[in-house]
Amino acid sequence: MQGVTVVDHPLVQHKLTIMRKKETSTASFRRLLREISLLLGYEVTRELELTSTRIDTPLEPMDAPTLEGKKLVFASVLRAGNGLLEGLLDLVPAARVAHVGLYRDPDTLRPVEYFFKAPSDLADRLVIVVDPMLATANSAIAAVEKLKERGATNLRFLCLLAAPEGVEKFRAAHPDVPVVTAAIDSHLNDHGYIVPGLGDAGDRMYGTK
Ligand code: PRP
Ligand code: URA
Repeated sequence: MQGVTVVDHPLVQHKLTIMRKKETSTASFRRLLREISLLLGYEVTRELELTSTRIDTPLEPMDAPTLEGKKLVFASVLRAGNGLLEGLLDLVPAARVAHVGLYRDPDTLRPVEYFFKAPSDLADRLVIVVDPMLATANSAIAAVEKLKERGATNLRFLCLLAAPEGVEKFRAAHPDVPVVTAAIDSHLNDHGYIVPGLGDAGDRMYGTK
C-alpha cells in the first residue's frame, strides 16, 4: 500500500515474535520494544536531510555530513508510545518530545484525551508520532489531528503492529502521513484487538491489567 513501509528486517521480525509470545515477561517485553525502536527508528529517519559541515579529522579537514534543519520531534501517544520513545531518544538524543495522552474507551473504542504537551514550534519540525499499536486507528488519527491543530505539517507515524483496517482508515484520514510498521496482522477482533497481535501493549509493558 502506498505510504506504508513494513520493516521486514530479520532482527525486527525475530524480536517481534518474542514480544508476541504470551509467556514473555514484562521486563523482556520492555527491553525488546526498546531494542526494536532503534531498528524502526533507523527506517523512519531514513529520509532526513543532510547538509555538509567543515570539520578537522586528526588527518585533514573534510566536508562531512550532518543533519540539516531544526531538531525533530517524537510525539509519544501515552502510555505505550513511551516504549518506542525511549529507544528513539537514544538514537536522536537532541530530539524534542511531545506527549499525547489518549486512552481507548473499551466500549466505544473511541480515544479519550487526558494530556497534551508539545513544543510550540511544531510547524518548523518533522514530527514522528510513535505508538506500538495501530488497531482501529482511532487513537492515531486523533493524535495526528491534535498535532496538526497545533501547527505540525510534516509528520510520520511509527508503530510496531498494525491491523489492515487501521492502516486503511489512517491513510484515508491522513494521506499525507506515511506509516512505518514492523508488521500488518490479519484482522481486528470484536473488541478491537489486533489478531494474532500481542495483546494490550500498555499492559504488557507496565505489568498492569
Ligand atoms: C493502545 C495503543 C494505542 C491504541 C490503539 O492504547 O497503545 O494507543 O490502544 O488502538 P486504536 O488504534 O484502536 O485506537 P490504550 O488505549 O490501550 O492505552 P494505554 O497505552 O494507556 O494502555
Ligand atoms: N491496543 C493494544 O494495545 N493492542 C491491540 O491489539 C489493540 C489496541
